[in-house]
Amino acid sequence: MTKPEAIDEEISLDPKKYIISSTDTKGLITDVNDYFMEISGYSREELIGKPHNIIRHPDMPKVVFKLMWERLSNGQDIIALVKNMAKDGRYYWIFTTFEPQKNANGEVIGYTAHRKLAPKHTIETIADIYRQVLEVEKKEGTEASEKFLNAYLKERGEEITFANLMDEIYKF
Ligand SMILES: Cc1cc2nc3c(=O)[nH]c(=O)nc-3n(C[C@H](O)[C@H](O)[C@H](O)COP(=O)(O)O)c2cc1C
Repeated sequence: MTKPEAIDEEISLDPKKYIISSTDTKGLITDVNDYFMEISGYSREELIGKPHNIIRHPDMPKVVFKLMWERLSNGQDIIALVKNMAKDGRYYWIFTTFEPQKNANGEVIGYTAHRKLAPKHTIETIADIYRQVLEVEKKEGTEASEKFLNAYLKERGEEITFANLMDEIYKF
């Protein structure tokens, strides 16, 4: 499937609804809820078995997903503000809680994401940081963009990680 061109038009979300999906341990989609299909514009058949980068927006820096995967592969959850792209190229910003699903022995058997409308002021702050991170990433790659993001976090406080920053913004 060819990826759509991003268009500068936002999809408005219902603040009461979650966009939910689950994956296997490789990150391939195993389940989506109806609201996921409604907002993304993709059918269940187009989504099941695919990686989530089907809805990846080109404005999202790679390093954000790198940090998210580092947490998940450690068995930890993480909240992140994410910009996604629908099948028609429109975008939507959501707070996404990524969680590992574990069996009775504590082994990770897959991942689930719950996404909810993010307030405008949080989007403005984070979109600006993502823009700067992406600019570095495009010119110098992911290692450089991770360094840039870490320098930004350090400026905010010695102990601030990307996950802490997202938690802070989520509560704000
Ligand atoms: C449960 C789960 C949900 C995900 N949801 C999204 C999502 O909504 N949007 C997105 O761009 N990536 C999502 N990802 C991350 C993608 O798997 C992928 O790492 C990301 O889109 C970056 O694509 P790339 O690896 O091709 O650069 C999710 C991953 C998991 C495990």
